[in-house]
Amino acid sequence: MTSRRDFLKTLTLTAFALPMNMQWDFTKSKVDGMIFPAEDDPAYWKKIRKMFPMPEGKAFFNTGTLGAQPTVVLESTIAHMRKVVTNIAEWDYKGDDWISGYQPFTDLRTKAGRLINAAAEEIALTENATMAMNTIAHGLDLDENAEVLMTDREHSGGRSGWLVREKRFGIKVTPLPLPNPCRDPEQIIDLFLKAITPRTRVIAISHMITGTGSILPVKAICVEAKKRDIFTVLDGAQCLGQIPLDVKDIGCDAYFSSLHKWMLAPPGTGLLYVRKERIADIWTTFAGGQWDNHEDEGYRLTQRGTGNLSLLVGVNAALDFHFRIGPDRIYRRIKFLGDYLREGLRKIPNVEIQTSPHPNMCAGITVYNLKGCEPGKIMDELWRRKKIRIRGVRQSTHIYNSLDEIDATLEVVRDMAAIH
Ligand SMILES: Cc1ncc(COP(=O)(O)O)c(C=O)c1O
Repeated sequence: MTSRRDFLKTLTLTAFALPMNMQWDFTKSKVDGMIFPAEDDPAYWKKIRKMFPMPEGKAFFNTGTLGAQPTVVLESTIAHMRKVVTNIAEWDYKGDDWISGYQPFTDLRTKAGRLINAAAEEIALTENATMAMNTIAHGLDLDENAEVLMTDREHSGGRSGWLVREKRFGIKVTPLPLPNPCRDPEQIIDLFLKAITPRTRVIAISHMITGTGSILPVKAICVEAKKRDIFTVLDGAQCLGQIPLDVKDIGCDAYFSSLHKWMLAPPGTGLLYVRKERIADIWTTFAGGQWDNHEDEGYRLTQRGTGNLSLLVGVNAALDFHFRIGPDRIYRRIKFLGDYLREGLRKIPNVEIQTSPHPNMCAGITVYNLKGCEPGKIMDELWRRKKIRIRGVRQSTHIYNSLDEIDATLEVVRDMAAIH
């Protein structure tokens, strides 16, 4: 039996085994020391799948809502949270970071910036895409005659800040009806060119439409916007971590995303980019002590009071995990699986696909249903028969999915089509 003395000794040892210094080094993470499969290993993706704590036998296809975290992300987050809680009495405020919300976290912003070709000063860490969008919608100076162009398929997290501003201050929000499915990039560019008016001051659109998975020709739209001095802000909630991104090449003024979807970071993490020539124009909405810091604008827009630093430790691990596999390799796998699913679906009678058929306008999200079938019926059947989880009529493929899981999906849809 453990005596009281032994028990106290164990406690003391445990406490001393944990590092007292909580200065977090975001240039490094546990992922650096992990053994990843060789790139030409035929079992590469099976081995990657094992790096996720999800049990075998259940297939997860709802990254469009929330990504599944790799074990290293989960464990890094939990280990940090445990350290903070266990050692809290040690915190002497001598420069250590135990919470987020007050420090610039420049190393982490630099690393996140690498994802999209941006500098740390252009990157703010947010809690999600919605918060990032609100930072722009409420922070950009606009007069009441200004018009904001968007599509009729924006997610509420991408449009609502603009709607508040319209109701409160009288700007005009114009949602453009998108064709369904989007046929080709020219069709969409033409739609915007015809809709721009002398009042148009902002174009605020999704890079990938959440409800169809169609990728919009954002680069061409930004080129046209720039010619007319229109501010462009892109909602990349469904792109960051899925499609390799270069915001300088796209030419947008601002870009934002959650990190908890395709980047596989802990829930409650996101990112906002504003190009350096425009970031000083964005007023601070969630104002903390750095609200007027124009030396580091990304820090100004990041700082907003106490947050959970453990989540940023998870973000750090997710970024390293992503870079170790490689953004291009991840994209190729996601796109390959998405194309395989769509090809299979096209061979099944009565399947209607809302995702664009254009090869450059689709990747990992496929939205489909059987003609006349209640939305949700396929979802329920996939779960009942195969333990495959999609969301409603949307199926998102990520690196933890396999061809076998997609074949099983097609088998169920084929059977349903036969009796429908
Ligand atoms: C295109 C798009 N924008 C914004 C959001 C909102 O993301 P969050 O809940 O992380 O703010 C989503 C979520 O699905 C989305 O798909």
